[in-house]
Amino acid sequence: MNKRIPLIAGNWKMNKTVGETVELVTQLKQKLSDVRNREILVCPPFTSLVVAKEVIKNSNIKLGAQNMYFEKSGAFTGEISPLMLKDIGCEYVIIGHSERRQYFGETDESVHKKMRVAFENGLFPIVCVGETLQQREQNETFSVIERQVRIGLTGLTGEEPKILVIAYEPVWAIGTGKTATPQQAEEVHAFIRKLYSEIYGKDAAESVRILYGGSVKPDNFSEIMRQPNIDGGLVGGASLKADDFIKLVRY
Ligand code: 13P
Repeated sequence: MNKRIPLIAGNWKMNKTVGETVELVTQLKQKLSDVRNREILVCPPFTSLVVAKEVIKNSNIKLGAQNMYFEKSGAFTGEISPLMLKDIGCEYVIIGHSERRQYFGETDESVHKKMRVAFENGLFPIVCVGETLQQREQNETFSVIERQVRIGLTGLTGEEPKILVIAYEPVWAIGTGKTATPQQAEEVHAFIRKLYSEIYGKDAAESVRILYGGSVKPDNFSEIMRQPNIDGGLVGGASLKADDFIKLVRY
């Protein structure tokens, strides 16, 4: 039996002012208060984290950040540390999103360091993997994912392999309106779980949650969630509108 609790996470990316944040999370808090069987997460930009936490405290909505640096403090101008995120009530942090890899030079090595530091500071990492269109067309999807998993997700100990969240986000499906078919997504999710089982064993592979991300919308999500190896969604565009995100949580 599948005991993995579905996680529906909104990655707001570089969107929403403080005022807009208050408006959106206030609606989510009111309209999702009865939801019990899912984990609900919002990941606003850094400037909105504190105010978002203020609104959602004592609710069933959790807070996450979209990125962080892998040092606790020091001379790293412009960066945010895991201690700072923890301090303001973040529980999750997204690591290695394809936009970070593509535009800001993130590598499997930096992803790995950030994942380690997140765990060491009591944050749950959501580590993103996924192939580009060119890689898919050249039949490199599985080799790319395997490299991202083997290098990025190496060195987990104790309960960490079970607690980790992985997000499969095919780069060609992000913000394009071109969702992977449920079968395409399931194929990769099953591959990741099998690979994870080889690395961390069967129990860990049964527990790890693997989210799908890439043009998730209210009208395609329930079919995606019907796949046995898909445990939730990492949602961009559709997480910015209260009505859409509410439908996704209630898929
Ligand atoms: P979209 O849902 O806008 O395609 O974005 C997906 C994503 O990148 C979530 O992290």
